[in-house]
Amino acid sequence: MTRAIHIVRTVQDLRPRIAAWRQAGETVALVPTMGAIHAGHLSLVTLAKDKADRVVTSLFVNPLQFGPREDFHAYPRDEARDSAALAAAGSDLLYAPDAGEMYPPGFSTKVNVGDLTEDLCGAARPNHFDGVATVVAKLLLQCAPDKAIFGEKDYQQLLIIRRLVRDLNIPVEIIGAPIVREDDGLALSSRNAYLSPDERKIAPLLSQTIHDVAVDLAGGRGADDAVVAARFKLEAAGFRVDYVAVRDPETLKPLYGPVKRARVLAAVHLGKTRLIDNVPVPLAG
Ligand code: PAJ
Repeated sequence: MTRAIHIVRTVQDLRPRIAAWRQAGETVALVPTMGAIHAGHLSLVTLAKDKADRVVTSLFVNPLQFGPREDFHAYPRDEARDSAALAAAGSDLLYAPDAGEMYPPGFSTKVNVGDLTEDLCGAARPNHFDGVATVVAKLLLQCAPDKAIFGEKDYQQLLIIRRLVRDLNIPVEIIGAPIVREDDGLALSSRNAYLSPDERKIAPLLSQTIHDVAVDLAGGRGADDAVVAARFKLEAAGFRVDYVAVRDPETLKPLYGPVKRARVLAAVHLGKTRLIDNVPVPLAG
């Protein structure tokens, strides 16, 4: 039997717990999540345990980062299940504020990280990354961890958070964690639960296709050419392609022709579900 995880819901209750750890000379890592915990999230907790003495996980479905026609209300919520999984993975504390704690009446500040937020997922989801940057800035200031862990699954988000922390001198080390995948290559995501059995069968083609792009690029194929072929393959399989892109891995600037180091990123719709994925060039391992 794993013991139940302690849950705090206010900044006022969160701070003294973290201060006590600090006073005891312990380091603290934060793992921000929106819940619907899966093995991808749990891998961040495992990495956090490796990097710090204490792990705080936050669970907050952030209304600010959902568009008006997105799945804020439908987003899977099961705090009892999530807290049990996080406890079993070794998280020391769950910070689960409600919307009134995060955004009290009169709240009006927005954080905009600028150019990195404008294309790729930012083009399809206006204001999404302002919502992410605002809540992550708040979580980092509320918790004041030594380290914070974010998945490469949301690669553009990870780069935006690195820039946010650098630009605002927030004293925290941002650590990126590798993507956890199903055996067939599909990147774990809370939104995979929306896929019908038929959609679930073709979903792995997304990771296979961008993996193939990475192999082709490493073999000398031009970026533009590889992207056109990938888009064609995905559309033929029934995906609605938002983007397939080959970008600089640090600046996300577009790359053309033959490339040595890059990130291949893609976003697609499969029925009602939006899926994203990315791989490095050259491929790791
Ligand atoms: P959420 O989608 O719950 O993801 C929480 C963290 O888990 C993110 O850092 C995300 O990149 C990581 N993650 C998700 N799937 C993963 C996988 N298959 N492998 C590795 N890591 C994975 O991302 C958010 O929440 C929010 O935008 C948040 C940062 C919490 C701000 O609201």
